[in-house]
Amino acid sequence: MKRTLGVCYYPEHWPEATWPDDARRMVDAGLAWVRIGEFAWSRVEPEPGRLDWGWLDRAMDVLGEAGLRVVLGTPTATPPRWMLDRHPDMLAVDAEGRPRGFGSRRHYCFSHDGYRAEAARIAGLYAERYGRHPALGAWQTDNEYGCHDTVVSYSDAALDAFRLWLADRYGAIEALNVAWGNVFWSMEYRSFGEVGLPNLTVTEPNPSHALAFRRFSSDQVVRWNRTQLDAIRPHTDAPVSHNYMGRVTEFDHYALGADMEIATWDSYPLGFLLDRVPEGDADAYLRQGDPDFQAFHHDLYRAVGKGRWWVMEQQPGPVNWAPWNPAPLPGMERLWAWEAFAHGAEAVCWFRWRQAPFAQEQHHAGLLRPDSVAAPALSEVEAVARELAEAPEVPEGPSPVALVFDYGSQWAWEVQPQGQGFDHFALVFSLYRALRRVGQSVDVVPPDHADLSAYSLVLVPGVQTLSEGLRAAMADCPGHVVTGPRTALTTAELSIPTPLGPDVPGLEATAVLVETFPGARPLEEGGAVRVWLERLETGAEVVERTVEGDPVLVRAGRRWHLAGWPDDDAAERIVTGLCRAAGLEVLGLEPGVRVRDCGAERIVTNYASVARRFEGHAVPAAGVLRLRR
Ligand code: GAL
Repeated sequence: MKRTLGVCYYPEHWPEATWPDDARRMVDAGLAWVRIGEFAWSRVEPEPGRLDWGWLDRAMDVLGEAGLRVVLGTPTATPPRWMLDRHPDMLAVDAEGRPRGFGSRRHYCFSHDGYRAEAARIAGLYAERYGRHPALGAWQTDNEYGCHDTVVSYSDAALDAFRLWLADRYGAIEALNVAWGNVFWSMEYRSFGEVGLPNLTVTEPNPSHALAFRRFSSDQVVRWNRTQLDAIRPHTDAPVSHNYMGRVTEFDHYALGADMEIATWDSYPLGFLLDRVPEGDADAYLRQGDPDFQAFHHDLYRAVGKGRWWVMEQQPGPVNWAPWNPAPLPGMERLWAWEAFAHGAEAVCWFRWRQAPFAQEQHHAGLLRPDSVAAPALSEVEAVARELAEAPEVPEGPSPVALVFDYGSQWAWEVQPQGQGFDHFALVFSLYRALRRVGQSVDVVPPDHADLSAYSLVLVPGVQTLSEGLRAAMADCPGHVVTGPRTALTTAELSIPTPLGPDVPGLEATAVLVETFPGARPLEEGGAVRVWLERLETGAEVVERTVEGDPVLVRAGRRWHLAGWPDDDAAERIVTGLCRAAGLEVLGLEPGVRVRDCGAERIVTNYASVARRFEGHAVPAAGVLRLRR
């Protein structure tokens, strides 16, 4: 696989006379890809039905003739103002019942059929015009589904569509009443037309109702994207992608990714650290980002892309949208790019070419300053381009460790956390971090993964219900399989089954009580469990227990179950034991140092702001080491 670099560019933001020079400078910097078009609707169609292709034709030609390949984005994340006159009820509605307004972007509801048809229309027009253009290399549908909290909408369009979705899923209203337990509080319905949306209820809605609405909302995104694919595909052979985000979990990315050739994601390590990740050493990594957050998403989106994935937007300097927006330490652009390649990225593209001096993102850096002088990131991009030219090809195979991440479980535990902070993403990420601290290369896998036979160690934490496929794959896995905490304790409809769970293959255990609590329950061996503890009755061997004597890690041969959520110290010890049992090499890594094996190379990254050592080698601060394995 040839690994390449690219950049996001907005020709409509700059005088046409600057395009040829921009294109030449991109090529000189070693860039191969340029993404354009994804916010340009008001320039392509200034009035309904009046199309102005001239400028975009010329931009495609200028970029292509310079030697760049274009990723063309459909402009559906930014419907122009006139669209609202045609479809006044197309706006998404928030949980308080307020419509979201015009004046930024993503102001549409995925359930609105009229806007969905407009989006398919413009996507089809883009594809008809450029689907066979010599510069076209790939497509992007829309931009960042879910950004700005836009998946779940409580509009009238959503209500109508939800009722149809329910009728399709349950067939008869009696079946829905039974599945949700609506006899409780006299919530029974006589028809699907009586079911409302789960917002504005007096106290919490029925969790089964809320979960159904989350599943529906995710399906709406997949359906919406499919409409665009249907419009694009007849006119092109180029692969289609979408740019996903960090820690956005409101729709099932695996389901969306199944319809497309490439998954891409937008990586803003400093923005994420300050905006979203409450745990970890934020101060220590202020100018580097969390040492595991990017890697987790690389591994996740490799799964979403079925092996083919890119970074579509790489932070190039300070961003504008986090509470604080520091500049990356010198070296981080190169580190982030190499880290992505270590996880199998085909391409890394920076956002954006030149900093815009106007509008919302005027303080967001680019590879060029607003005055066209090179910004600090550009020389690091050029360095990566030179290094890539010399780098060996990388065959990708499975990693030794698989970690299941499940969007459905994320929604289930958001709907019914039971204890503050019970969050599937946070649980999976905490175990991912522990695995990386002891040097493991990990594949994130979906909950319907059919074949686990290549893995020495498989972790299935906090998965609401095990599908038949996953259950069979776990049973057939020759390696060690670890379930829990909170795995297979509830039914698919979010009720408690009898007999009580956890219902996991190969290990007999019953959670006779579950409790959540603030603070920590110390373990005999050190560290603690937090948030969640299942009181297990089991004949299995107890490997770890709390100081009070409750089993926390139990084992029957190669099958293990975790009854609580280990803190960082306990997780590292537990994961070390699991790796050793599974015959995997455990590495001792200094703080901030991470390792990933890829093909013939072992790539060592140092997120610390001071130099570290790895097996006798010095790793500079914010530096990368590429070792032969
Ligand atoms: C991304 C988005 C871009 C730009 C960027 C700024 O979320 O896709 O359009 O807004 O953030 O960091």
